[in-house]
Amino acid sequence: MKRIGVILLAAGQGVRMKSGLPKVLHPLAGKPLFLHTLETALRIEPSAIAVIIGHGAEALRRAYSHGDVNWVIQEKQLGTGHAVLCAKEGFRDFQGDVVVLSGDVPLIREQTLKMMINIHRERKASLTLMTASLDVATGYGRILRDARGKIAGVVEERDATGAQKRIREVNAGVYVASPQFLFSALEQVKNHNQQGEYYLPDVVAIGLTREKEIATVHVDDPREMMGVNTREELAAMEKLFQERINRKWMDAGVTLKDPETTYIEEEVTIGKDTVIGPNSHLRGRTVIGERCQIDGSAYLTDTELDDDVHLLFSVVITSSRIASGAIVGPFAHLRPGTSLGRNVHIGNFVEVKQATIGDGTKANHLTYLGDVTIGRETNIGAGTITCNYDGFNKYRTSIGDRVQVGSDSTLVAPISLGDDVYVATATTVRHDVPAGALVFNERREAVREGWTERKRKKMKGSKS
Ligand code: UD1
Ligand code: MG
Repeated sequence: MKRIGVILLAAGQGVRMKSGLPKVLHPLAGKPLFLHTLETALRIEPSAIAVIIGHGAEALRRAYSHGDVNWVIQEKQLGTGHAVLCAKEGFRDFQGDVVVLSGDVPLIREQTLKMMINIHRERKASLTLMTASLDVATGYGRILRDARGKIAGVVEERDATGAQKRIREVNAGVYVASPQFLFSALEQVKNHNQQGEYYLPDVVAIGLTREKEIATVHVDDPREMMGVNTREELAAMEKLFQERINRKWMDAGVTLKDPETTYIEEEVTIGKDTVIGPNSHLRGRTVIGERCQIDGSAYLTDTELDDDVHLLFSVVITSSRIASGAIVGPFAHLRPGTSLGRNVHIGNFVEVKQATIGDGTKANHLTYLGDVTIGRETNIGAGTITCNYDGFNKYRTSIGDRVQVGSDSTLVAPISLGDDVYVATATTVRHDVPAGALVFNERREAVREGWTERKRKKMKGSKS
């Protein structure tokens, strides 16, 4: 069987993005643009894969550290043709076909690539390129055809005449080629064009003069070949991508109340009968169980929700685990390292981090729980603060089962409260408290009758 090689072009800066970040590192659905294409390329199981890098080379390598690709440096970005030529060494003796992909064309599908390879082989072509017809073709290379409809060349927009600019059939930037033809044709490519670059699509005209078979594959859904060259195109692509992901989850039995404002990244998984409200962002490796309810305005990153969790309106949750039956929000912030047991309630204006909270425990109002372990069925009163930081170090707080922490209490860590402890309202606790004890601060409470009236009179009298 003939082998398949892949060359992925990702060295450009992407000037039209007007960005400090190389274009192919801009995230799409939370993942760098070029990684989408690279992962698709890997799914066709190539026996060799070269990624051409230049701008942000180190950052690209870091973005994909699995190691099974060959990174090839293109020192100066002299054009797409020059970029492919940089991979020549690795493919000199390659027996098979080479697929050339652009790192800024992320929606291309595995099936389409396989289909292109098949057509390329059936037609015994030297080069096969993907084309599509666009209503607005701005920015793309146009496909030139002769009177009989055979491909006659590709002209870049900047080099095109007025009439050529009206052509709607465009070059998708996806090719299958015989490496022998590809590299020998590339040696012949000149940079005599508006941009002074070595254009990869120029190999089409060279092939034709050599009477090689040049095939085209027209994709019906042009969305698949959309390239990202500007921020506007990136936003349009993000929307397309999101529609694709949202459709997948709705098909799998998830209700999205407002798919338009639901942003689900690619690696997220969601169980069936979960209902997700508007303006929800599910990011990173977030895992949502079945029958969960996410009311809306939720921003979840790398977070695991078991079945039947209810997130009330407006929560920010990062790197946390929430067991089933728990209720969180509205307006709660769970920071990394939070683990909530079954049926835990975390209410409004509560911040939690590095915390393990036992089954049935509640902290419903205005509280900070940081670096803490709390047992089961404990109640944390409104305005409780774990004082975990002395300006130098962080210390842990440990609270047992069935503890009642009165409102407005401060627990100065390191500290441990045993099971069944009662903390009286407005207590500052500085020392460990044994199980079953009451802890309170001795403070005298005084009442002065008639004080307000006397005060008001005095203040009035002092006004001139
Ligand atoms: C390219 C095609 C155009 C096609 C379009 C489809 C050329 C000359 N034009 O145009 O016909 O319609 O794609 O999206 O090929 N790159 C390098 N090294 C370089 C230059 C570019 O690695 O020296 C990489 C870029 O990082 C990018 C890809 O090649 O991932 C395409 O380059 P880009 O500048 O976006 O080409 P387009 O103008 O979009
Ligand atoms: Mg492009």
